[in-house]
Amino acid sequence: MSYIKPTILVTGGAGYIGSHTVQCLQDAGYEVVILDNLMYGHRDLVENVLKAKLIVGDISDRALLDRVFATYPIAAVVHFAAYAYVGESVSFPDKYYRNNVVGTLTLLEAMLAASVDKIVFSSTCATYGIPAIVPIPEEHPQNPINPYGISKLTVEKMLADFGRAYGLKSVIFRYFNAAGADPLARLGEDHTPETHLIPLVLLAALGKRESISILGTDYPTPDGTCIRDYTHVADLAQAHVLGLEYLLDGGESNIFNLGNGNGFSVKEVIGTARLVTGQFIKAIECPRRLGDPPVLVGSSDKARKILNWQPQYRDLQSMLLHAWTWHLQRHGQEPSLVWQAGHFRSHQNLKAI
Ligand SMILES: NC(=O)c1ccc[n+]([C@@H]2O[C@H](COP(=O)([O-])OP(=O)(O)OC[C@H]3O[C@@H](n4cnc5c(N)ncnc54)[C@H](O)[C@@H]3O)[C@@H](O)[C@H]2O)c1
Repeated sequence: MSYIKPTILVTGGAGYIGSHTVQCLQDAGYEVVILDNLMYGHRDLVENVLKAKLIVGDISDRALLDRVFATYPIAAVVHFAAYAYVGESVSFPDKYYRNNVVGTLTLLEAMLAASVDKIVFSSTCATYGIPAIVPIPEEHPQNPINPYGISKLTVEKMLADFGRAYGLKSVIFRYFNAAGADPLARLGEDHTPETHLIPLVLLAALGKRESISILGTDYPTPDGTCIRDYTHVADLAQAHVLGLEYLLDGGESNIFNLGNGNGFSVKEVIGTARLVTGQFIKAIECPRRLGDPPVLVGSSDKARKILNWQPQYRDLQSMLLHAWTWHLQRHGQEPSLVWQAGHFRSHQNLKAI
């Protein structure tokens, strides 16, 4: 590619997937401006690791957005900023529609006013609802079963409408479960509260949780526990650079799943975590949770074909090892010794899983 790399606005760039994507954009030579209200983002990672321009503010602040677009020569937006707790969205749907839908509408209006016509948007497999077939293709019907999924589907529809009416070009990525951390442990997942399985398992390995609950052991899967699609965050970040370049090269609006294609069960995650960390992790078998499909795995054939996306870390061991190294560092434990111990054990024992 021969064009001079432009400036990209990354909303939610201080969060988990956003920060890894900022790093990937910087590595690819882009200037990045981050807009994040730091509700869940981490200033220290932006300032100490990414060293990117951070504007602390909200996507629903139109005056701020206008100033940002007037100040920086922004060519495109990569939009991560959203709330993403499914359970909370059921209890407080207004919070989700206001932030995820109204906030994004404000962002799109500011983009139009500033003649910025390209956006990469973080959507989710939650827009599919309960899958009728797996691996789920992009054409699968979308019937989300919670306000979080509905808020993301609403934005997808808004992007299509803005494309038709105003020529806005969008790449929509529907992620499955982001996992892992920067392979060099500079960045990683640090959510409070934490609801994702892998960090919860690792927090149990660190002794910061007493145990991990297995919600259902009688599903029609090989070991009876739910199977989910985990995608390494570094691979997700790489996909964003490809999606952005697809738009900058004049690509039409498009929608892509970003999944691993391989599912891993809850018991596989816990078993692999025990080997990688070398720690005992107490697991308690509990009844099923309502609305959990047995298998949720996406097909990413389209992203591979059109964007030439080639995920590097599709195995569970890499995701857990990178996340574990990050967690040790983040929680102030000696990374090298414990990591080496876990790494050694993992190599010795992985075949035995
Ligand atoms: N983590 C996953 O497995 C997953 C799966 C599917 C989709 N997604 C989507 O990907 C995106 C990023 O997820 P994540 O796990 O990195 O979440 P995250 O919470 O770590 O990052 C989101 C960031 O957006 C910021 N933010 C939220 N609302 C904002 C607002 N109104 N204005 C400015 N900043 C705001 C937060 O402070 C946070 O830094 C979200 O849109 C989420 O819905 C994530």
